[in-house]
Amino acid sequence: MASQEPRRPSNAGRYLFLFLLGLVVGAIAAVMGLRALQARADPFPDALMNVMAHQGGALRNAAKANRCSTSDSLPRLHSLRALANDLEPAFPGLTDDTRFGTAASGLRAVLDEALATPPQDCAQLATLNERIGEGCKACHRDFR
Ligand code: HEC
Repeated sequence: MASQEPRRPSNAGRYLFLFLLGLVVGAIAAVMGLRALQARADPFPDALMNVMAHQGGALRNAAKANRCSTSDSLPRLHSLRALANDLEPAFPGLTDDTRFGTAASGLRAVLDEALATPPQDCAQLATLNERIGEGCKACHRDFR
């Protein structure tokens, strides 16, 4: 007789609870994932880096092509120097690390020096290009 079987408490409530918990956790995870994707999708840092790479490449090409007058190199150097001002705003998550600030300031110092005493010939431009490249590497070594 069914009425004499011990009544087992129904698990339905527990399953419903777990189901709802799964929904909530899933929703939270989805929002977090989307936000992470959104944060990664900020085009500014990569854009800044690519424009800096373009200007640096133009300076190296100029040295190879024997176009080493100050009127060739100064506009590039001005651009690079201005772009370098945006290193910290482009990577706000990295500025807590002193190595980042040191590398950014280091690159700016190289560029300030170059603007104060611009390269006069291709040998000097080649040397400067090396120093700029080292300025980039000083940061990429730790953060790229
Ligand atoms: C103070 C730090 C810092 C300096 C200085 C720096 N970079 Fe970067 N660079 C980064 C970081 C951080 C990344 C990684 C960015 C990422 O993955 O979103 C990066 C990535 C790049 C990339 C790859 C971008 C892409 O689309 O993935 C290029 C190209 C680049 N840098 C060029 C340069 C050049 C050229 C210089 C020097 C003229 C330079 N960087 C100086 C921090 C720096």
